[in-house]
Amino acid sequence: MLRAASLLFVSFAVTPAWATENGLGQGIFNTNCIICHGETGAGDDETPDIRGIPLGALRRALHGFDKMPEFALDDDAVAALHAYLRSLDPES
Ligand code: HEC
Repeated sequence: MLRAASLLFVSFAVTPAWATENGLGQGIFNTNCIICHGETGAGDDETPDIRGIPLGALRRALHGFDKMPEFALDDDAVAALHAYLRSLDPES
């Protein structure tokens, strides 16, 4: 029993954190952001490019702007979204 528990722990530990975080970030982006900011996050004439946006700017934006709606996301979700947006940035 003890042995099984420690094996389970090891298999969790070797799952790279970025893999799950990026899956979460991409899911949030596809569901909530893609419709306005586009598939690559590059935006268009009316919507800004949000690839590689700093965390502070992302947090502010999620409170909503003029046309940008407000989103209630917890810290883990915001961190995952931030990591995903950074991965979209061609300069990162
Ligand atoms: C209904 C369209 C719409 C949706 C959906 C939307 N946005 Fe926006 N977003 C905008 C617009 C338009 C702006 C520019 C500011 C304004 O006019 O409101 C903006 C601004 C931003 C900014 C600020 C960019 C800067 O340069 O400071 C960030 C960051 C951002 N959005 C991220 C997101 C994320 C992340 C999501 C998904 C959770 C999202 N947006 C969903 C329309 C949208």
